[in-house]
Amino acid sequence: MNTQQLKKMLEEMWIDYLALNPDAQAIHQLIKKRNPHVVNDHIALRTFNLGKVDLKQISRPFINAGYHARGEYSFPKKHLYAQHFEHNDPNLPKIFISQLLTENLDQSNQELIHNLIEQIPQEVLTTKHFSYSGRHWNLTYQQYQQLLKQSEYAAWLAAFGFRPNHFTILINALHSHHRIETLNQFLKQHGYALNSAGGEIKGSAEKYLEQSSTLANKVILSFDDQEAEIPGCYYEFAKRYPLPEGGLYQGFIAASADKIFESTDSR
Ligand code: NI
Repeated sequence: MNTQQLKKMLEEMWIDYLALNPDAQAIHQLIKKRNPHVVNDHIALRTFNLGKVDLKQISRPFINAGYHARGEYSFPKKHLYAQHFEHNDPNLPKIFISQLLTENLDQSNQELIHNLIEQIPQEVLTTKHFSYSGRHWNLTYQQYQQLLKQSEYAAWLAAFGFRPNHFTILINALHSHHRIETLNQFLKQHGYALNSAGGEIKGSAEKYLEQSSTLANKVILSFDDQEAEIPGCYYEFAKRYPLPEGGLYQGFIAASADKIFESTDSR
């Protein structure tokens, strides 16, 4: 995939993300009015660690487009593992891909997830845009709730399928707000609720990264048996600090990401 095709793919991911997150559209407009450039720090994707759809498969089109695996992260309590990918072109967003360690769930949830994956048509798996192709299986609200009891992440992924979970505004590139505190304040003044799990600001300057996020938009989703209102996607904000050896820190902090995952929790 050449850079032009990659940029088109990232643009399609953005459109898919906005469709599920009208708050992000409105926040982006608010910020854009005050800033010539709004830079996206990273896109986050979620998957199950099962052969056909595991992190390796999801990352393949990005690797083919010039991305390289950089950091890796473990979230034992949430049964998750993640990697982040960077492109040689620093203007392109990082890609953060997490996967659920399915074998850590109860037998009944494992069986449910295996059954979902088996329903994915073979031809869909090999397309470049699989990582934002949505849901390819039947799911009842009762099954969603069964997953929810053990893993918010599994329930979200079962409900929405493969699509960007969040995009991230890089605070460093803003003219209107230099500090995460003032950006958070600005968002709250405009009526957006922030994820306060572990504090509104995750990380610190000493750790070279500060992050905050909105709480996911509630969306009405059609299950096989009924419609229900559930948390969709959210918007993240990141401020990166320079490393002693030079350049901004480009990695992630597992303890912070652990709490950011909770932005899609049902409340
Ligand atoms: Ni993120």
